[in-house]
Amino acid sequence: MAVTVQAHPSLALAKYWGKQRQSAGGRELNPNLPATPSVAVTLDGLVTRTTVRIADTDTIVLNGQSQLVERYTPVLDALRRATEQDVSFHIESTNSFPTAAGLASSAAGFAALVSAALHEVTGDAPADVVSQIARIGSGSACRSAFGGFTRWDTGALSARQIASAAWWPEFRVVVLPVTGGAKEISSRDGMNRTRDTSPYYQPWIDDAPTVADEVETAVLSRDIERLGDAARISYMRMFATMLGAHPPILYWLPQSVHIIRELEVMRRQGIPVWETMDAGPQVKVITLEEHASAVAERFSDITAAPPVLCAVGSAPYTIEPANG
Ligand code: PMV
Repeated sequence: MAVTVQAHPSLALAKYWGKQRQSAGGRELNPNLPATPSVAVTLDGLVTRTTVRIADTDTIVLNGQSQLVERYTPVLDALRRATEQDVSFHIESTNSFPTAAGLASSAAGFAALVSAALHEVTGDAPADVVSQIARIGSGSACRSAFGGFTRWDTGALSARQIASAAWWPEFRVVVLPVTGGAKEISSRDGMNRTRDTSPYYQPWIDDAPTVADEVETAVLSRDIERLGDAARISYMRMFATMLGAHPPILYWLPQSVHIIRELEVMRRQGIPVWETMDAGPQVKVITLEEHASAVAERFSDITAAPPVLCAVGSAPYTIEPANG
């Protein structure tokens, strides 16, 4: 019997950018161990739905297209090790939003995949186990194993929840997709290039914990102004270290900069809006419920797809079997 799970992306308010090097004899030991702490929110408006069933060989279909299985093998091997079952998986996944365009599709995707596979094999999927295994596929996926607000510490094998989805009912993120195209540089390549070539990488690593603590304090005190300010510092400094890479990495589009500038104007008018960005040109606006529709409306003419209003989302959940 197949299991279907839905999961949501994890949007970092304090960014993870950089991986610790951990190899022995040319083999990577623990992939995706972060060089910075990150603090994130799970977004309810964006959904990945993944169905897993046991099969003769590993196969993956994403949004109707067969995928190269190698990208998934480390996660599938980790699932086989964790469950002590020598099984293969057929996986089908669809996103409600553009894939690989800086909307954390891999975070939601790996969290849903691991949760569904664990349910399929063992009948259960504890969040900390989902977090550890999903991390192997994509670092940010370890945060999508939890709902609400999460923190993933430097070098940690899994993330943890710092506040539940009910903690901040008025908190909203308005996702502004300025392009539907896939990103040119994967976050993995971008991080490695930054680490290997940017003279600003070490200062970024040294500074990131202070900013992450500030973001966490702002979340725990539900202080939107403090949070918006700290989240902007985090993403701008992340991009500063990328701009120093060789060759430089620039994910932004003119529309991204236009939105950043407009949000400055709105803040001067007293409207609580701050942005964050990831490994792509999409802009995510941090605000409160009463301003979310106005933000979506203001930018709807320059987005490539309709803006998505998100509240704080839940952990992955099984939708089939219905009582699973
Ligand atoms: O783990 P990945 O490959 O999805 O990389 C995530 C990188 C950022 O989205 C830029 C930051 C973050 O913490 O999510």
